[in-house]
Amino acid sequence: MSAQLIDGKSIADTLQGELRTRVQQILASGRRAPALATMLVGGDPASQVYVRNKRLACERIGIRSLPLHYGADISQAELLAEIDRLNADPDVDGILVQLPLPAQIDATLVIERILPGKDVDGFHPYNLGRLAQRQPVLRPCTPFGVIELLRRSGESFYGRRAIVVGASNHVGRPMGLELLLAGATTTICHRFTRDLAAEVARAEIVVVAVGKPGFIKGDWIAPGATVVDIGINRLPDGKLCGDVEFDSARQRAAWITPVPGGVGPMTVTMLMHNTVIAASGH
Ligand code: GUN
Repeated sequence: MSAQLIDGKSIADTLQGELRTRVQQILASGRRAPALATMLVGGDPASQVYVRNKRLACERIGIRSLPLHYGADISQAELLAEIDRLNADPDVDGILVQLPLPAQIDATLVIERILPGKDVDGFHPYNLGRLAQRQPVLRPCTPFGVIELLRRSGESFYGRRAIVVGASNHVGRPMGLELLLAGATTTICHRFTRDLAAEVARAEIVVVAVGKPGFIKGDWIAPGATVVDIGINRLPDGKLCGDVEFDSARQRAAWITPVPGGVGPMTVTMLMHNTVIAASGH
Protein backbone atom coordinates (compact mmCIF):
# COMPACT_ATOMS: atom_id res chain seq x y z
CA MET A 1 0.00 0.00 0.00
CA SER A 2 1.15 3.54 -0.65
CA ALA A 3 -0.68 6.31 1.16
CA GLN A 4 -2.40 9.11 -0.70
CA LEU A 5 -0.78 12.48 -0.15
CA ILE A 6 -2.76 15.21 1.60
CA ASP A 7 -2.01 18.26 -0.52
CA GLY A 8 -1.77 21.15 1.95
CA LYS A 9 -0.67 23.59 -0.70
CA SER A 10 -3.75 23.02 -2.84
CA ILE A 11 -6.19 23.08 0.12
CA ALA A 12 -4.51 26.25 1.45
CA ASP A 13 -4.83 27.88 -2.01
CA THR A 14 -8.56 27.08 -2.06
CA LEU A 15 -9.04 28.51 1.44
CA GLN A 16 -7.06 31.65 0.57
CA GLY A 17 -9.31 32.12 -2.47
CA GLU A 18 -12.36 31.94 -0.17
CA LEU A 19 -10.79 34.48 2.20
CA ARG A 20 -10.05 36.81 -0.71
CA THR A 21 -13.74 36.71 -1.64
CA ARG A 22 -14.70 37.52 1.96
CA VAL A 23 -12.34 40.49 2.02
CA GLN A 24 -13.84 41.74 -1.26
CA GLN A 25 -17.29 41.50 0.32
CA ILE A 26 -16.07 43.50 3.33
CA LEU A 27 -14.74 46.21 0.99
CA ALA A 28 -17.93 46.18 -1.10
CA SER A 29 -19.92 46.85 2.07
CA GLY A 30 -17.95 50.05 2.56
CA ARG A 31 -15.69 48.87 5.38
CA ARG A 32 -11.90 49.08 5.33
CA ALA A 33 -9.69 46.04 4.65
CA PRO A 34 -8.73 43.82 7.63
CA ALA A 35 -5.29 44.82 8.98
CA LEU A 36 -2.55 42.69 10.53
CA ALA A 37 0.46 44.07 12.44
CA THR A 38 3.45 41.71 12.38
CA MET A 39 6.08 42.36 15.06
CA LEU A 40 9.54 40.96 14.41
CA VAL A 41 12.26 41.40 17.02
CA GLY A 42 15.90 40.93 15.97
CA GLY A 43 17.28 39.29 12.84
CA ASP A 44 16.60 35.56 13.18
CA PRO A 45 16.72 34.37 9.53
CA ALA A 46 13.94 31.76 9.90
CA SER A 47 11.66 34.31 11.60
CA GLN A 48 12.34 36.78 8.78
CA VAL A 49 11.23 34.17 6.23
CA TYR A 50 8.08 33.32 8.21
CA VAL A 51 7.07 36.98 8.60
CA ARG A 52 7.71 37.62 4.92
CA ASN A 53 5.47 34.67 3.98
CA LYS A 54 2.74 36.08 6.22
CA ARG A 55 3.05 39.46 4.54
CA LEU A 56 2.85 37.90 1.07
CA ALA A 57 -0.26 35.93 2.08
CA CYS A 58 -1.85 39.21 3.28
CA GLU A 59 -1.16 40.76 -0.13
CA ARG A 60 -2.75 37.81 -1.98
CA ILE A 61 -5.91 38.01 0.11
CA GLY A 62 -6.27 41.78 0.33
CA ILE A 63 -5.40 42.13 4.02
CA ARG A 64 -3.42 45.27 4.88
CA SER A 65 -0.15 44.30 6.57
CA LEU A 66 1.79 46.52 8.92
CA PRO A 67 5.30 45.08 9.18
CA LEU A 68 7.06 46.28 12.34
CA HIS A 69 10.72 45.44 12.95
CA TYR A 70 12.54 46.07 16.23
CA GLY A 71 16.19 45.75 17.21
CA ALA A 72 17.26 42.64 19.15
CA ASP A 73 18.10 44.91 22.11
CA ILE A 74 14.58 46.36 22.55
CA SER A 75 13.56 46.30 26.22
CA GLN A 76 10.54 44.47 27.51
CA ALA A 77 8.91 47.74 28.56
CA GLU A 78 9.37 49.19 25.06
CA LEU A 79 7.88 46.12 23.40
CA LEU A 80 4.91 46.10 25.78
CA ALA A 81 4.35 49.79 25.04
CA GLU A 82 4.26 48.96 21.33
CA ILE A 83 1.63 46.29 21.98
CA ASP A 84 -0.41 48.79 24.03
CA ARG A 85 -0.23 51.22 21.11
CA LEU A 86 -1.45 48.57 18.61
CA ASN A 87 -4.14 47.35 21.04
CA ALA A 88 -5.51 50.91 21.13
CA ASP A 89 -5.30 51.47 17.36
CA PRO A 90 -8.76 51.02 15.81
CA ASP A 91 -7.16 50.48 12.40
CA VAL A 92 -5.32 47.32 13.56
CA ASP A 93 -7.37 44.09 13.80
CA GLY A 94 -4.67 41.50 14.44
CA ILE A 95 -1.32 41.57 16.26
CA LEU A 96 1.27 38.86 15.68
CA VAL A 97 4.51 38.78 17.68
CA GLN A 98 6.87 36.43 15.88
CA LEU A 99 8.50 33.91 18.25
CA PRO A 100 11.11 33.21 19.51
CA LEU A 101 11.91 36.47 21.30
CA PRO A 102 15.35 37.53 22.64
CA ALA A 103 16.29 36.37 26.14
CA GLN A 104 15.54 39.72 27.87
CA ILE A 105 11.88 39.44 26.92
CA ASP A 106 9.32 37.26 28.67
CA ALA A 107 7.20 35.79 25.85
CA THR A 108 4.36 34.84 28.22
CA LEU A 109 4.01 38.45 29.38
CA VAL A 110 4.06 39.68 25.80
CA ILE A 111 1.39 37.22 24.63
CA GLU A 112 -0.84 38.08 27.59
CA ARG A 113 -0.55 41.80 26.83
CA ILE A 114 -2.21 41.42 23.40
CA LEU A 115 -5.97 42.04 23.53
CA PRO A 116 -7.61 38.60 23.15
CA GLY A 117 -9.72 39.98 20.29
CA LYS A 118 -6.55 40.90 18.37
CA ASP A 119 -4.62 37.71 19.27
CA VAL A 120 -4.67 36.18 15.78
CA ASP A 121 -2.07 33.55 16.79
CA GLY A 122 -4.61 32.21 19.29
CA PHE A 123 -1.90 31.96 21.99
CA HIS A 124 -3.54 34.15 24.67
CA PRO A 125 -4.85 32.18 27.70
CA TYR A 126 -8.33 33.57 26.96
CA ASN A 127 -8.36 32.03 23.49
CA LEU A 128 -6.84 28.74 24.70
CA GLY A 129 -9.42 28.69 27.51
CA ARG A 130 -12.26 29.22 25.05
CA LEU A 131 -10.96 26.31 22.98
CA ALA A 132 -10.77 24.13 26.11
CA GLN A 133 -14.39 25.06 26.88
CA ARG A 134 -15.53 24.08 23.37
CA GLN A 135 -16.34 27.69 22.55
CA PRO A 136 -13.38 28.66 20.37
CA VAL A 137 -12.94 32.21 19.15
CA LEU A 138 -9.44 32.79 17.73
CA ARG A 139 -7.87 29.34 17.43
CA PRO A 140 -4.11 28.54 17.38
CA CYS A 141 -3.23 28.50 13.70
CA THR A 142 -1.31 25.23 13.27
CA PRO A 143 -3.76 22.93 15.13
CA PHE A 144 -6.71 24.72 13.48
CA GLY A 145 -4.99 24.25 10.12
CA VAL A 146 -4.55 20.51 10.74
CA ILE A 147 -8.27 20.08 11.49
CA GLU A 148 -9.26 22.09 8.41
CA LEU A 149 -6.81 20.11 6.26
CA LEU A 150 -8.25 16.79 7.45
CA ARG A 151 -11.88 17.90 7.18
CA ARG A 152 -11.35 19.07 3.63
CA SER A 153 -9.68 15.72 2.83
CA GLY A 154 -12.82 13.90 3.95
CA GLU A 155 -11.47 12.65 7.29
CA SER A 156 -13.99 11.87 10.05
CA PHE A 157 -13.18 12.37 13.72
CA TYR A 158 -16.14 11.19 15.81
CA GLY A 159 -15.07 8.39 18.15
CA ARG A 160 -11.87 7.73 16.26
CA ARG A 161 -8.61 7.08 18.10
CA ALA A 162 -6.29 10.06 17.62
CA ILE A 163 -2.83 10.60 19.05
CA VAL A 164 -0.76 13.75 19.28
CA VAL A 165 2.97 13.29 19.77
CA GLY A 166 4.41 16.40 21.42
CA ALA A 167 2.78 18.51 24.14
CA SER A 168 4.06 22.05 23.45
CA ASN A 169 1.96 25.04 24.52
CA HIS A 170 1.47 26.40 21.01
CA VAL A 171 1.05 23.21 19.01
CA GLY A 172 0.71 19.84 20.79
CA ARG A 173 -1.65 20.83 23.61
CA PRO A 174 -4.06 22.92 21.51
CA MET A 175 -3.90 20.14 18.87
CA GLY A 176 -5.22 17.75 21.52
CA LEU A 177 -8.02 20.22 22.36
CA GLU A 178 -8.93 20.57 18.67
CA LEU A 179 -9.14 16.80 18.23
CA LEU A 180 -11.32 16.53 21.36
CA LEU A 181 -13.56 19.29 20.02
CA ALA A 182 -13.83 17.38 16.74
CA GLY A 183 -15.00 14.29 18.65
CA ALA A 184 -11.91 12.07 18.52
CA THR A 185 -10.79 9.88 21.43
CA THR A 186 -7.57 11.75 22.01
CA THR A 187 -4.23 10.80 23.59
CA ILE A 188 -1.36 13.27 23.98
CA CYS A 189 2.11 11.73 24.22
CA HIS A 190 5.23 13.50 25.45
CA ARG A 191 8.75 12.91 26.68
CA PHE A 192 7.58 10.83 29.66
CA THR A 193 5.34 8.51 27.61
CA ARG A 194 6.52 4.96 28.32
CA ASP A 195 5.81 3.00 25.14
CA LEU A 196 5.41 5.50 22.31
CA ALA A 197 5.54 2.84 19.59
CA ALA A 198 2.54 1.02 21.14
CA GLU A 199 0.58 4.29 21.49
CA VAL A 200 1.21 5.19 17.85
CA ALA A 201 0.29 1.67 16.69
CA ARG A 202 -3.20 1.99 18.26
CA ALA A 203 -4.04 5.28 16.58
CA GLU A 204 -6.22 5.83 13.52
CA ILE A 205 -5.10 9.47 13.29
CA VAL A 206 -1.48 10.32 14.16
CA VAL A 207 -0.40 13.97 14.51
CA VAL A 208 3.27 14.61 15.22
CA ALA A 209 4.91 17.83 16.44
CA VAL A 210 8.24 17.17 18.13
CA GLY A 211 10.83 18.85 15.89
CA LYS A 212 13.12 15.81 15.48
CA PRO A 213 13.76 14.42 11.99
CA GLY A 214 12.48 10.86 11.50
CA PHE A 215 11.50 10.54 15.19
CA ILE A 216 8.40 8.44 14.41
CA LYS A 217 9.31 5.17 12.70
CA GLY A 218 7.24 4.09 9.71
CA ASP A 219 6.66 0.58 11.06
CA TRP A 220 4.90 2.00 14.17
CA ILE A 221 2.04 3.27 11.99
CA ALA A 222 -1.16 1.18 11.94
CA PRO A 223 -2.17 0.01 8.46
CA GLY A 224 -4.71 2.46 7.04
CA ALA A 225 -3.96 5.29 9.49
CA THR A 226 -3.92 9.00 8.65
CA VAL A 227 -0.56 10.62 9.41
CA VAL A 228 -0.11 14.37 9.85
CA ASP A 229 3.47 15.58 10.20
CA ILE A 230 3.77 19.08 11.67
CA GLY A 231 7.58 18.94 12.03
CA ILE A 232 9.75 20.99 9.72
CA ASN A 233 13.44 20.12 10.14
CA ARG A 234 16.37 21.23 8.02
CA LEU A 235 18.88 18.45 7.29
CA PRO A 236 22.63 19.11 6.91
CA ASP A 237 22.22 18.91 3.10
CA GLY A 238 19.72 21.80 3.29
CA LYS A 239 16.63 19.66 2.54
CA LEU A 240 13.49 19.90 4.69
CA CYS A 241 12.03 16.84 6.37
CA GLY A 242 9.35 16.07 8.92
CA ASP A 243 9.27 14.19 12.22
CA VAL A 244 7.96 10.99 10.60
CA GLU A 245 10.04 8.56 8.52
CA PHE A 246 8.13 9.38 5.37
CA ASP A 247 8.95 6.54 2.94
CA SER A 248 8.28 3.68 5.38
CA ALA A 249 5.23 5.39 6.94
CA ARG A 250 3.77 5.88 3.48
CA GLN A 251 3.86 2.10 2.92
CA ARG A 252 1.43 1.61 5.84
CA ALA A 253 -0.71 4.74 6.09
CA ALA A 254 -3.79 5.45 3.96
CA TRP A 255 -3.24 9.22 4.03
CA ILE A 256 -0.12 11.21 4.84
CA THR A 257 0.99 14.86 4.70
CA PRO A 258 4.28 15.61 2.93
CA VAL A 259 6.95 17.98 4.32
CA PRO A 260 7.12 20.55 2.84
CA GLY A 261 3.67 21.15 1.30
CA GLY A 262 1.50 19.60 4.03
CA VAL A 263 0.68 21.49 7.23
CA GLY A 264 3.01 24.47 6.59
CA PRO A 265 0.82 26.30 4.04
CA MET A 266 -2.20 25.82 6.32
CA THR A 267 -0.66 27.64 9.31
CA VAL A 268 -0.30 30.94 7.47
CA THR A 269 -3.75 30.48 5.90
CA MET A 270 -5.42 30.10 9.31
CA LEU A 271 -3.60 33.26 10.46
CA MET A 272 -5.27 35.05 7.55
CA HIS A 273 -8.60 33.47 8.53
CA ASN A 274 -8.18 34.65 12.12
CA THR A 275 -7.37 38.18 10.93
CA VAL A 276 -10.58 38.31 8.89
CA ILE A 277 -12.53 36.97 11.90
CA ALA A 278 -10.88 39.54 14.22
CA ALA A 279 -11.80 42.32 11.76
CA SER A 280 -15.41 41.15 11.75
CA GLY A 281 -15.65 41.53 15.54
CA HIS A 282 -16.37 37.75 15.79
N1 GUN B 1 7.28 31.14 15.39
C1 GUN B 1 7.17 29.95 14.75
N2 GUN B 1 5.89 29.70 14.44
C2 GUN B 1 5.16 30.75 14.89
C3 GUN B 1 3.77 31.08 14.87
O1 GUN B 1 2.92 30.34 14.36
N3 GUN B 1 3.44 32.27 15.43
C4 GUN B 1 4.35 33.08 16.00
N4 GUN B 1 3.91 34.21 16.54
N5 GUN B 1 5.64 32.82 16.05
C5 GUN B 1 6.04 31.65 15.49
